[in-house]
Amino acid sequence: MTRTASKTGSQTMPEKVTVDLGDRAYEIFVGQGLIENAAMYVAPLLKRARVTIVTDENVAQLHLDALQKSFTDNNITSTPFILPPGEKTKNFEQLQHLLGALLDAGVERGDLIIALGGGVIGDLTGFAASVLRRGVDFAQIPTTLLAQVDSSVGGKTGINVPQGKNLIGAFHQPRLVLADTDALTTLPPRQFRAGYAEVVKYGLINDPSFFDWLEANLDNTMNGDVATITKAIVTSCDAKAHVVAADEREGGVRALLNLGHTFGHALEAATGFSDRLIHGEGVAIGMTMAFELSVHLGLCSGQDAVRARRHLTKAGLPTRLSDIPGNLPDARALIDLMAQDKKVVDGTLTFILARGIGDAFITRDVTPSDLLAFMTDQETT
Ligand code: GLY
Repeated sequence: MTRTASKTGSQTMPEKVTVDLGDRAYEIFVGQGLIENAAMYVAPLLKRARVTIVTDENVAQLHLDALQKSFTDNNITSTPFILPPGEKTKNFEQLQHLLGALLDAGVERGDLIIALGGGVIGDLTGFAASVLRRGVDFAQIPTTLLAQVDSSVGGKTGINVPQGKNLIGAFHQPRLVLADTDALTTLPPRQFRAGYAEVVKYGLINDPSFFDWLEANLDNTMNGDVATITKAIVTSCDAKAHVVAADEREGGVRALLNLGHTFGHALEAATGFSDRLIHGEGVAIGMTMAFELSVHLGLCSGQDAVRARRHLTKAGLPTRLSDIPGNLPDARALIDLMAQDKKVVDGTLTFILARGIGDAFITRDVTPSDLLAFMTDQETT
């Protein structure tokens, strides 16, 4: 994995992170103006001068014209497919609809499909690309902070089912990721904060100095300072690239990236994948719970758990069950939802816990009685 920044005249060139997967290696570019210059990055990947763009209604209004203009200006034909926005789009029905539309449009095995949008569009499009004609290339143009620092990188694709989130899917790496920081200026503040939870995650997992830096730079980040946000995204992508290169299919270390997700996914399921709790918010509560569980088990100092919670709270994120509007299922029902987690092995939940800030680890040693006691305690705090 390499990171580079260079300047040509007064124009800042995008930073570049390489996901080192041998002959499937690809680059993540992070910077301004990448959507309007997308053709420059995409053209070398094309076998014929044609791309398909999958996006949603909200993102289409904001960015589709600029993206299509870039292709038109470079004599590349682009065909858009515009889906409804929101987590509910990541389902079987929309997948079937999209696959049919892509086949009807004559998308061939050698073509490139572009996912323009947030995690929902990236995950659904990537999964469609993985099964269409047994696998078509795709590129990610993530337009949310969450997608730029997490879901667009690493090749996890999929859809939600009533049993839980992302339970049907495939590993299918993109050929290219273009993270345009200009897209973040149109992001609703709630979505930005939710994406920020995934940035904090990298500090909490194994980079305490990044967590220090995030604490020191929170105001600049939240105020939209481009240089600060770019550094946060590049550091996050670099961290993820290292983990994905080491363990693409999550046989081991990649599970660390799920810090907060076992709790978070259960809470998302409990709230019906609705606006009551969006993904990054579930991760913020889940990461805090992972630290609290670590304290409960005597593995982590209470001070570190307080520090993690304080930073997430200062960023405007929820950190407690009571921060979620409306009623929640009781502790046992939440544990049942957690049992749908993909990391369940032989019926035992895998947890990502922490010995401190930047010192997360994977464990299967949380007993059902410890978990029930902890979850019951959470209901009342
Ligand atoms: N979002 C966790 C991963 O990509 O592994």
